[in-house]
Amino acid sequence: MTSQDSAGLHPPPLTSEDIARVGELLYRWTGMIFGESKRYYIERRIAERMKRSGHTNIKAYLGFLGSHTAEREALINAFTINETYFYREDHQFAALARDILPDVIRTKRPGDLVRIWSMPCSTGEEAYSIAIWLLENWPLVDAYNVEIVGSDIDTAALNKAVQGHFTERSLARLPDAVRESYFEMQRGHHRRIIQDLRESVRFTPANIIDPMTMTGLGTFDVILCRNLLIYFDDAARLQAANNLYERLNPGGYICLGHSESMGRISDRFTLARLADAIVYRKA
Ligand SMILES: C[S@@+](CC[C@H](N)C(=O)[O-])C[C@H]1O[C@@H](n2cnc3c(N)ncnc32)[C@H](O)[C@@H]1O
Repeated sequence: MTSQDSAGLHPPPLTSEDIARVGELLYRWTGMIFGESKRYYIERRIAERMKRSGHTNIKAYLGFLGSHTAEREALINAFTINETYFYREDHQFAALARDILPDVIRTKRPGDLVRIWSMPCSTGEEAYSIAIWLLENWPLVDAYNVEIVGSDIDTAALNKAVQGHFTERSLARLPDAVRESYFEMQRGHHRRIIQDLRESVRFTPANIIDPMTMTGLGTFDVILCRNLLIYFDDAARLQAANNLYERLNPGGYICLGHSESMGRISDRFTLARLADAIVYRKA
């Protein structure tokens, strides 16, 4: 039995034009590239969404997407790749506590707001990792009003972030003492992050290629934009970089994933080589 059969899905045989049309819509709405090389991935997800929304004809379904924002949101949620885990690329959290925040507060006074944005945050592990790392490693964490915001285009992932339930796999890189201090054991062998932390991080949707969805969030001292731009083409990366630039305070920092480089995208940022990480700054 194939996994398609076990899921009870019978993907419509999509033509090359259908695949191109789906790719075009997803690119326009999210910046992510999906084409013929991802045919199986596309067919599976389209089949599931068509079944759930009661469609049997792909053209009718694509037309329906144009006028139904809830279905468009569900389709986007189905296509996102949410891979993430606690303390991923933790050398950047070390750089945050050791170099970035000490520099950010040079122009602030105790009690001032320090704003950090995890964009995209997926199911919340990155945003909560920042909170935990600072509590554990930044002695001035209580001296400043640190605000951590997590955003993503995927509203289902954000709901999971707010709920704060995590699997052992997601927690695997955390030291035992951190697990014990910040997570409560739940039934079914998963853990929930403690209420204090759930209340200390704000999660809100935003689309990195749509500035209208980001302006209401204000500006930030530090933005982590990790492991998203790899799914974009050059035009969408540039659009994202320009939108992030607008959300950064002057002198603010941006951290990308290990295989991403701002140098190849935009010349508006300056590169800063820190002891633990290479990061980018708004001049
Ligand atoms: C692989 S996860 C990265 C999560 C986290 N930053 C990390 O490195 O562990 C990529 C996330 O990007 C989100 N995403 C895709 N397109 C987006 C867009 N246009 N705006 C905001 N988030 C987007 C997806 O929903 C997904 O949760």
